[in-house]
Amino acid sequence: MTTAGADGAVKVAVVYYSGTGNVHRLATAAAEAAEKAGAQTRLRRVPEYVDESLWPEFTEWTQAWQENAEAIKDVPTATLDDLDWADAILLGGPGRHGMIPAPLKHFIDLAWPLNARRGLAGKVMSSFTSTGAPHGGQESTILSLNTVFYHWGGIIVPPGVTDDIMTAPSNGNPYGVSSVSGRQAVPGRLAENVTDDNLAAIAYQTQRVTEVAIALRRGYAAGL
Ligand SMILES: Cc1cc2nc3c(=O)[nH]c(=O)nc-3n(C[C@H](O)[C@H](O)[C@H](O)COP(=O)(O)O)c2cc1C
Repeated sequence: MTTAGADGAVKVAVVYYSGTGNVHRLATAAAEAAEKAGAQTRLRRVPEYVDESLWPEFTEWTQAWQENAEAIKDVPTATLDDLDWADAILLGGPGRHGMIPAPLKHFIDLAWPLNARRGLAGKVMSSFTSTGAPHGGQESTILSLNTVFYHWGGIIVPPGVTDDIMTAPSNGNPYGVSSVSGRQAVPGRLAENVTDDNLAAIAYQTQRVTEVAIALRRGYAAGL
């Protein structure tokens, strides 16, 4: 694949929130895939919005949450400039009550003025998630993220079932790659239920996004 765009490499931002490491693992694989596809890449985390555990008495979850906070502390924090800068944006977050997690929603709300000046229009966009249960709201979480993309005027590129990896047993969500963590909040074993096939799928989704961004950039440069 040729990676150069009209004026340098295409720019991909992977922006995510992760409470206990699953989405972090997917996001990291996405950023690696974007780099491999030749993109300038920014991996950016949306910060936690609470100082204390959501459920302090749930000690396993709380310890996992603290462990993840320590593990991801060196990932730069997302800013609106990262969205402005990018040709392509991947947003990831765990399903919480089948919806966008509050920290990521807060970040999205902060992008209101950027969107109002049409600073997000025409960019390639795609989303991914992790949930506790296979039917715990993956689709509704992805769809709520993609609904944000509608408002932003993005060009949504889902993985679909456009590669065999999407039909692997632990994959199968054509709206956006999704992992199932189950009872995953185990200190010392963060994100252990993110499978190699999940990682291959998010790499594929990101490669697809990057390729479309390259093609679009060429098209825009040609005056389309
Ligand atoms: C407040 C809260 C709400 C959640 N809601 C759901 C849900 O609606 N469906 C589900 O399957 N899992 C739900 N979960 C579990 C997470 O989606 C799941 O553990 C996910 O893998 C976490 O990703 P992370 O490790 O990147 O934070 C919820 C977790 C929390 C803390």
